[in-house]
Amino acid sequence: MEILIRPDADQASRLAARIVARTVRQNPRAVLGFATGQTPLPLYRELVRMHREDGLDFSAVTSFNLDEYVGLAPSHPQSYHAAMWANLFGRINIAPERVFIPDGLAVDIPAACRAYEESIRKAGGIDVQILGIGTDGHIGFNEPTSSLASRTRIKTLTAQTRRDNAEFFGGEYKVPHHVITMGLGTILEARTCLLLAFGKTKAAAVAKTVEGPVTAMVPASVLQLHQRAILLLDEDAASELERADYYRFVDANKPDWQKP
Ligand code: GLP
Repeated sequence: MEILIRPDADQASRLAARIVARTVRQNPRAVLGFATGQTPLPLYRELVRMHREDGLDFSAVTSFNLDEYVGLAPSHPQSYHAAMWANLFGRINIAPERVFIPDGLAVDIPAACRAYEESIRKAGGIDVQILGIGTDGHIGFNEPTSSLASRTRIKTLTAQTRRDNAEFFGGEYKVPHHVITMGLGTILEARTCLLLAFGKTKAAAVAKTVEGPVTAMVPASVLQLHQRAILLLDEDAASELERADYYRFVDANKPDWQKP
């Protein structure tokens, strides 16, 4: 794992945007995986700025989102469809036919999940997968005890995750119980995983992810098995890492060709 600690979320997000932009400039037909939640919002703002001011071109890019709530129409304000179009897709020149987000209204959910996996495969796999992390260590919506080999499927949210999201829905009772999420096995196939974590509330989950055992109890820890997993943290999210000084030293002493 590559652990990059920056003073604040903005600086970490700008670095994430540079990594994404480099991928798109090297391959205009790149396949990007996007996440929702509050964490990636500064990254999306920076990508929008790069599109508007620096001509970053998304017209040939394909995108896959990690997850969606079951039962929410794309027009529902709390759906991940709505969030992605409001925060990113509606503000860059991505082609709508190349945007893939799990369908929360699918009638045959297992068939829709199989089709989602097939679409990722047909697109040639995901080049860079953006990830956030839940306070319980989930990525996508792969809650603790998710199979480390799981594929896109329906999951049931934990009480903790529903509480974490209650404020956005105006009450915990309004947060759906079920979601569709890419699996941990699906995520592991992305060529690069870029996990962003900001704030004290994420510090314990980050420490377990990086320095704890690989365990289904901390789904993000499966990234220890990935060949190119980059964690971009602010100081607060890094505050419980035992070896933070070592990660800082590695980061500060990279040879030029290895700099992120
Ligand atoms: C939800 C999303 C995750 C996200 C997590 C953390 O569970 N499905 O993809 O990483 O929330 O959200 P936030 O970034 O708002 O803390």
